[in-house]
Amino acid sequence: MTDTPIVETRGLEVRFPLPTHFLSREKPVLHALNTVDVAIRPGESFCVVGESGCGKTTLGRTIIGLQRPTAGEVYFRGKRIDTMDETERKPIRRDMQMVFQNPYASLNPRRNVFDTLVEPVRHLMPEMSASEARTRVEEVLDATGCDPSWQRRLPHEFSGGQRQRIAIARALVTNPAFIVADEPISALDVSIQAQILNLLSDLQAERGLTYLFITHDLSVVEHFGTRVAVMYLGRIMELAETATLFSRPSHPYTQLLLEAIPKLEGGSFDRPHPPGELPDPVNPPPGCPFAPRCPIAVARCRSERPELRKLKNGAEAACHLAE
Ligand SMILES: Nc1ncnc2c1ncn2[C@@H]1O[C@H](COP(=O)(O)OP(=O)(O)O)[C@@H](O)[C@H]1O
Ligand SMILES: [Mg+2]
Repeated sequence: MTDTPIVETRGLEVRFPLPTHFLSREKPVLHALNTVDVAIRPGESFCVVGESGCGKTTLGRTIIGLQRPTAGEVYFRGKRIDTMDETERKPIRRDMQMVFQNPYASLNPRRNVFDTLVEPVRHLMPEMSASEARTRVEEVLDATGCDPSWQRRLPHEFSGGQRQRIAIARALVTNPAFIVADEPISALDVSIQAQILNLLSDLQAERGLTYLFITHDLSVVEHFGTRVAVMYLGRIMELAETATLFSRPSHPYTQLLLEAIPKLEGGSFDRPHPPGELPDPVNPPPGCPFAPRCPIAVARCRSERPELRKLKNGAEAACHLAE
């Protein structure tokens, strides 16, 4: 593993203008991502965790190019990609793929498995002959535990776990180096989740893949992640090696998330979140976004926003009081 990042974001911001109320002059803007800096190392599983609405999907979509940033930069292997047009980006799109949360929605219901898988090859690898493309499809079906006989069948004939294998096969068919996996197991039966996680791990080991792995479930991260970024209201609150984060969490928000993991294996997946409501991302609080829910917040936390800074244990935390 080298230290040169495969994917990097600098000062990434995404804002969504919202519809204006007809009686109001205000133009509300939702701050989905605020100055997000990540540097993902080749071969790692970089996990992004946080409650629903904190910006995880927006980060994945912006890196992959499905969402344009409002400000900031995205780099792939040192090359800036967020400003590229569709033609310039085409050779990079085969290297960066995404697996979506819901395999019931992400596969075209009218397209059989072969057509679903061959489409990215035809589009992004026009140099491949028809027979090479067929071989490639068969190879990824085999690698992802899909039966070759599935090729002529439609998505509705498959279970959730089988569909997610097909979606993973589709992401792999162009032989990418980097995959955004956006909550790839959260729509699946608990009994299937481990199978899909193991498949992702095996594929990573076999193919040297780098993952941006998005989840709201910290217990998954402990076994899967190399490093973890904890997000809150569009910001990274803590970034650490997985072992460090789980043994010595630095940010009060991370500490609360960890306390919320049930100690019993197989506990409920609808685990309680830290008490209190998420602030409104249209009107974020002036200081630390977590201050309104933070058990140790002081006056400074409500007025001055903490920057992400390096701590003695090697982690980074955006908290005035960490350490
Ligand atoms: N296309 C959009 N238009 C307006 N708001 C959006 C859009 N996409 C996401 N958002 C908002 O951006 C915030 C972050 O969303 P998202 O990235 O989906 O969070 P997560 O994946 O962590 O649940 C949320 O407040 C969400 O409502
Ligand atoms: Mg999401």
